[in-house]
Amino acid sequence: MNPSHPIETNGRPIILIGLMGCGKTTIGKLVSKRTGMPLLDMDALIEEQVGMKISQIFAERGEAHFRALETALLRFLEQHPQTPPPVISTGGGVVTRPENCEILRRLGFVVWLNVSPSSLLRRSVRAANRPLLQTDDPAATLRRLWHERAPLYKATAHRILNTSRVEVGEVCRRVCDAAERYFAAR
Ligand code: S3P
Repeated sequence: MNPSHPIETNGRPIILIGLMGCGKTTIGKLVSKRTGMPLLDMDALIEEQVGMKISQIFAERGEAHFRALETALLRFLEQHPQTPPPVISTGGGVVTRPENCEILRRLGFVVWLNVSPSSLLRRSVRAANRPLLQTDDPAATLRRLWHERAPLYKATAHRILNTSRVEVGEVCRRVCDAAERYFAAR
């Protein structure tokens, strides 16, 4: 890997939060490539550790079990700082537990990729691996989730980027610039 834009983060991760479909994984990959920081995708890591897809974990063990796995992973990451520090792509519901929000803010620089519910719908409703959207009216579900969670994302993020109509390369640059400024000021 030959990063074009390494960032001095003082050993701390860059963390992407936001609703499903907002681009956390896509942007996480781009930021990872640009900075040379490895990507840590929480959903993917949980699937790997448990040996089940997220949809299967929800169906067979329930949402509360999945939430407990997210918290356990965050506690682990806080107690075992990763070297080199990663770009962390979170699951959209990670902010629903207050403890998670506190850990995220202590752990690193948290960016909310805020995308409007209508843009989100175009991007994510097709994804079969999104158990929370398997409802009769995914558009209404997504709007409800956005309204419920927007205050949580806002309170957890160090920086909010409104990215509904911003192309991915530009979002990546904005995340990196914001991270650089945040860590430079520390
Ligand atoms: C969830 C979002 C999903 C995944 C799980 C629950 C949520 O992650 O963690 O299906 O509660 O919004 P993505 O945001 O990556 O789709």
